[in-house]
Amino acid sequence: MHATVIELLAQYDPALPLEEASTIPASWYIDPRIAELERRTTFSCTWQLAARADQVREPGQYVTCEIAGEPILVVRGEDGVLRGFFNVCRHHAAAVMTQAQGCAKNLRCPYHGWTYTLEGALKGTPSFTSECHFDRAAHGLAPVAIRAWENWVFVRLDAQGPSFEEGFGSNLLGEIASLQLSRLSWFERRHYHFDCNWKVFVDNYLDGGYHVPHLHKGLDSVLDFKKYTIENGARHCLQSSPIVKGGDHAQFSSVRGGERALYYWVHPNFMINWYEGMMDTNLVLPLDADHTEVIFDFWFADVSEAARERNRASVEVGQIIQDEDMAICKSVQRGLHSRAYSTGRLSVRREAGEHLFHRLLHEDFTSTRA
Ligand code: FES
Ligand SMILES: [Fe+2]
Repeated sequence: MHATVIELLAQYDPALPLEEASTIPASWYIDPRIAELERRTTFSCTWQLAARADQVREPGQYVTCEIAGEPILVVRGEDGVLRGFFNVCRHHAAAVMTQAQGCAKNLRCPYHGWTYTLEGALKGTPSFTSECHFDRAAHGLAPVAIRAWENWVFVRLDAQGPSFEEGFGSNLLGEIASLQLSRLSWFERRHYHFDCNWKVFVDNYLDGGYHVPHLHKGLDSVLDFKKYTIENGARHCLQSSPIVKGGDHAQFSSVRGGERALYYWVHPNFMINWYEGMMDTNLVLPLDADHTEVIFDFWFADVSEAARERNRASVEVGQIIQDEDMAICKSVQRGLHSRAYSTGRLSVRREAGEHLFHRLLHEDFTSTRA
């Protein structure tokens, strides 16, 4: 007999300390009902990355994306104000803007030509001449909460959700500010497809370097596994490692400089990986219970022609690490479907980040809002 969703949620006890805790149940990684619950709670209430700031600097510049299954549009108005909307035409619901990004004079729906201003007001309605009680002013695009922060633009679908400061935490905002990320320029975006639940990718990221010596020999050569630290905030985790100079894998040591690597995860699906003079971000997007897209953006202090080859080499090193993670995440997802597996214990030394992630998920699912 199928357990109900309430029964599945009751299988995880968020009150257990890390010393006694296990992972969330395998069913949470494979059951489509949990994926649906996540769309309605976790992904609707949290601040989700919608665009990079450099994509929407000028009036008319826009970006479209999908968040928790909803079409979203971010656009800068003639008045210079950045706004977010549901990218859903008020006539018969078609997506108004269909390109991933661009620059427009107004927002014109391709279906019947309704036109909205860059500020979201309905302006043109072809063939609407004798309709009664049609209030044009009430038919603007539906707004979504938006916040520009550092190099990014975030939106929150749930109108009642927590503020940006609550979502990210003031400590984290201060720490990131000290990294002076505005000195970095965007270089390249890559999309990776993982055959696993999105939480398998996040768990793998949050295992405190546990898998690095086993799975990533190249990366392991530049990190000091023994001095790897893990610090949880209320809704984020910072993992950090000293960088070892002159490791045995030249391909890695030549592109990873500075004293430390900082790996920030913000609940639920955004990561900032920072090394001196460079950063990459990961945005983890569930496709369905068993499939995930991860969008990587690579940023460098120097994006001149002269630095191009070194930057490319750095992106390629990232590719090697992703290829290694992709295979293990697929293997984990298959194991999660096995009748032989239900939950697994956590390492106190390494897996505090996963413990935080699992407790926050439980909170999302069981809060009054859910
Ligand atoms: S759905 Fe947009 S104009 Fe008809
Ligand atoms: Fe990894």
